[in-house]
Amino acid sequence: MSRQPSHDRVLFGPSILSADFLKLGEDVAEAERAGVDYLHFDVMDGNFVPNISIGIPVLEALHRGTTLPIDVHLMIVEPARWVEAFVAAGATSVTIHVEAAPHLHRDLETITAAGAGAGVALNPATSLSAIEEVLPFAAQVLVMTVDPGFGGQTFITAMLDKVRRLRQMIDDVNPLCRLQVDGGINDQTIAPMVAAGADKIVAGSALYNDRQSVAEALAGLRSALAATERR
Ligand code: DX5
Ligand code: ZN
Repeated sequence: MSRQPSHDRVLFGPSILSADFLKLGEDVAEAERAGVDYLHFDVMDGNFVPNISIGIPVLEALHRGTTLPIDVHLMIVEPARWVEAFVAAGATSVTIHVEAAPHLHRDLETITAAGAGAGVALNPATSLSAIEEVLPFAAQVLVMTVDPGFGGQTFITAMLDKVRRLRQMIDDVNPLCRLQVDGGINDQTIAPMVAAGADKIVAGSALYNDRQSVAEALAGLRSALAATERR
């Protein structure tokens, strides 16, 4: 049986990693017009993950160019060193990886004290038990549904069960906490993800691609979701 998320509205955010950086401002404005709920900002350091992406100067520019919340996903080692700088640069929420943060409680409190939503992310291989003790201190938990590092990868189906178990934990302990999923979300995978309990969606290549506009792609995701909800 599928469970209903505590938040009745599912939030959609494009990962700007899949945007065209040569015209980032235009791509962001297009997403804003299409009605996305937030922007997802992937930071990679070439160390925690085998890729290097974007950082603080790009975030500052983005912050000047949008009124949307900016959801920063730090795929970096020693994230605690950087969280305050990312909040100062415009992050609305900052998500750090449990695998990179031995002092997760302190780090989540630091993010909250800096005025942003505190998020914790888990790689596909990481058990939910790793975040059990800090769940009361998190505004969102991000379940990676691919191994982080790249956009456009294939969704790992086994993560559905993890989302289901996390939904139960969140409902029991911290019902206002958002359950975010990231990686390989598209019109095939979104409905099972939401039925399992996700209420905050990241979509990179499904929202920014050369087949359709962001508005068309977002409508496609929403109708894939609505079609299964009607069943
Ligand atoms: C992966 C990133 C994701 C990625 C999502 O390491 O954290 O946010 O950009 O891209 P898609 O939706 O294409 O898998
Ligand atoms: Zn991400």
